[in-house]
Amino acid sequence: MNPHVFAAVSGPLLGVNIDHIATLRNARGGSHPDPVLAARAAVDGGADIITFHLREDRRHIRDADVQRIKAEIGVALNFEAAVTDEMLGIIEQVQPENVCLVPERRQEITTEGGLDVAGQFHRVQGVCARLAAAGCQVSLFIEASRAQIEASARAGAPCVELHTGAYANACEAGDAALAQHELERLQQGMAAARALGLQTHAGHGLTLSSTGSIAAMPEVSELHIGHALVGHALFVGMEQSVRDFKAAIVRASLARAAAASR
Ligand code: PXP
Repeated sequence: MNPHVFAAVSGPLLGVNIDHIATLRNARGGSHPDPVLAARAAVDGGADIITFHLREDRRHIRDADVQRIKAEIGVALNFEAAVTDEMLGIIEQVQPENVCLVPERRQEITTEGGLDVAGQFHRVQGVCARLAAAGCQVSLFIEASRAQIEASARAGAPCVELHTGAYANACEAGDAALAQHELERLQQGMAAARALGLQTHAGHGLTLSSTGSIAAMPEVSELHIGHALVGHALFVGMEQSVRDFKAAIVRASLARAAAASR
């Protein structure tokens, strides 16, 4: 197939989030399972990007993991971080290709809700400029709300990652009406972000069955998936799990391209 046609139909890039390998390791202490080994297996399975979240409390990924990921992994890195001076300093030292700014609360089990860009506009605007100067592409992890999308564009972020958690949860709960409502909210958000010149990424809570409808959105250029992909890997292995998620992405993109050409 012509490579341009292939790129158009092969769908969004896949960022594999390896936090949960570190969660398992930390449950016992010691060094197994090794998140860097998992990242390597993910790359062998076709991961385009390795994603990790260095949390303030270091509950999964730790500073030493970040240094090893940077030294040993050959694909682009996506460093998820809260908007804190400590994280900005680490990011400037590590210099990942991509940084995704997320909200963070110590009590939460996982990232809940999106970053309130509109509510802390000047702080986020300053951080976007600082990280751009460090050579990082910044994305802001936000809800698909017009106010947050417009604030992200004004803040100077080149990308937003729209939070797919509510859609994925509705799919898991078997609530088709809510899933459809959330899907439409995401579609409108993607279109609005694109119209403002933003690159659009998506992630959170996606499973093998809910990934396709997000991958089929023509605006989406990257997906970031962790928990369900690592869970699937327990049964089929990391490389195969990545292949299975990539196949779901490619299938959805091919189906969209075929429908568009009819
Ligand atoms: N994107 C962002 C910004 C996240 O914070 C997370 C969770 O760390 C993910 C994607 C991946 O979510 P999940 O682990 O539910 O696939």
